[in-house]
Amino acid sequence: MDQPVNSNWQRFWHDLPQERGLPIWDSEGSVTATAHLPWFQPHFADGLPVLDVGCGNGTQTAALTTHYDRVIGLDFAPAAIEHARALLADTPAEFRRFDLGDTAAARDLHAELGDANIYMRGVLHQMPDELRAAAAASLAVLIGGTGHLFAVELAPAAADTIQSALAQSADAVPKMQRVFKYGLTPAAWQDGKLESVLDAAGIEIVEHGSTILHSTDFVPSGATLDLPMNYVVARTKR
Ligand SMILES: C[S@@+](CC[C@H](N)C(=O)[O-])C[C@H]1O[C@@H](n2cnc3c(N)ncnc32)[C@H](O)[C@@H]1O
Repeated sequence: MDQPVNSNWQRFWHDLPQERGLPIWDSEGSVTATAHLPWFQPHFADGLPVLDVGCGNGTQTAALTTHYDRVIGLDFAPAAIEHARALLADTPAEFRRFDLGDTAAARDLHAELGDANIYMRGVLHQMPDELRAAAAASLAVLIGGTGHLFAVELAPAAADTIQSALAQSADAVPKMQRVFKYGLTPAAWQDGKLESVLDAAGIEIVEHGSTILHSTDFVPSGATLDLPMNYVVARTKR
């Protein structure tokens, strides 16, 4: 916990009641991980464990267990792991503490599990830029020679959508306001950054596209706040 972003996330999760749907991104699996399946399932080799990196309260981890035998949710905030274990006691998923920025920890996990497939939603977009290279290096270690990475991240354009929503009134999008209150920085990057950070870590993109994050928050008109996302399916360069 020596980076400010780590303690910001720990405080966010620690202060949040253990209740589904309170985080702005905590949409149902049916419109999230399950809806993403057609993009990554054809690439995920059978028999490899699936790691949900930056799993938060584990909603998407649990959704993945209906399609994969072994699913492990990983998050660096101990309080997030506590949410997941409390909310999802009946899921077959495991939840563990793991910092994607710690490449030595990634090597230890790879030594234990072998190559893995990775589902990662909403992690790199908010990370301080100086930590992204180490995070991508860890992803490369974890997928190894046979795993695939599915990463779905807020698009840079989401920053403008968020600012427009916040500007509508002082109490607009309260769940988004909570994110900023904890010093978190959604969509803090530029077009092409996701691709370049993976490329520098020796990871090549085999498929990409765009999608929408159907958030759990609402603008003053009563409409859901929807945010643009980009996704990639990627593997170690061959
Ligand atoms: C926007 S939330 C998304 C949670 C989850 N993936 C989902 O879609 O519901 C980002 C999560 O990533 C975690 N996180 C951020 N940086 C991380 C890192 N370096 N290693 C592990 N987890 C991280 C945070 O604690 C938080 O739970």
